[in-house]
Amino acid sequence: MGAMGKIPPPGNYTSFDVPDLLDNIGLSDGLLVESICTTKNGDGSLHSAPIGVRRAGSAVIIEKLFKGTTTLENLMRESSALINLLDDVEIFYLATFNEIPEEGYDMSYGMRLPPLKGSNASMEVSLLNFKDKGDFLSVKLRIDGILLRKVKPCFFTRCRHAVLESLIHATRIPVFRKIRPKDAEKLTKLVLHYSELVSRICPEEPYNRIMRDIVNRLNIKLNK
Ligand SMILES: Cc1cc2nc3c(=O)[nH]c(=O)nc-3n(C[C@H](O)[C@H](O)[C@H](O)COP(=O)(O)O)c2cc1C
Repeated sequence: MGAMGKIPPPGNYTSFDVPDLLDNIGLSDGLLVESICTTKNGDGSLHSAPIGVRRAGSAVIIEKLFKGTTTLENLMRESSALINLLDDVEIFYLATFNEIPEEGYDMSYGMRLPPLKGSNASMEVSLLNFKDKGDFLSVKLRIDGILLRKVKPCFFTRCRHAVLESLIHATRIPVFRKIRPKDAEKLTKLVLHYSELVSRICPEEPYNRIMRDIVNRLNIKLNK
């Protein structure tokens, strides 16, 4: 359990004692978390996509950053990104389909890249190195500083987990349908499983609405 006293008040940006601060907010060394990574496009506009990052001391590693993604292209060009940490499944949903509106960013902090309004903590990162692994790259990023925006109560819910897993699969299924149809089928079965779970235990907003949209976008026939 981290010492709450070591956490600066919400709204503060700090580049000191990064590993300590990460420990204290629960992002322990080696932990893999689903983040939303914001980068700058070539025309100066912003791009945000859900990306898994693993903490490695005062750095984070994107173990699999797939080739062909805008995030990779932007990261290679700009050498910097903002890793937003949050637990709002609606924002993950919007980012998955590249639908974060301009008003979704908080421009008031004067950082290199603005944090998402729904972000609890945002890490400014810069490119340290990368390894080419074939279909994807493994990318190491130094954490230059952290903005803590919110410290708020958290809880477990299977609804959030089920929708998040389905969003990840929704990004893989269209690719796999072309190159690995068996894997596409397996992931489709999982989305069906989560869709049934969500319809059984979750409220309409936002979980059932998002699940229905995922199923529709993927053209999956429900077993009813
Ligand atoms: C929760 C979640 C985690 C994801 N993690 C990764 C990841 O670690 N690496 C990756 O290349 N794509 C990941 N994706 C898929 C990308 O967000 C998605 O393919 C995106 O559309 C491609 O990125 P782009 O918008 O930068 O082109 C993830 C998707 C979700 C929903």
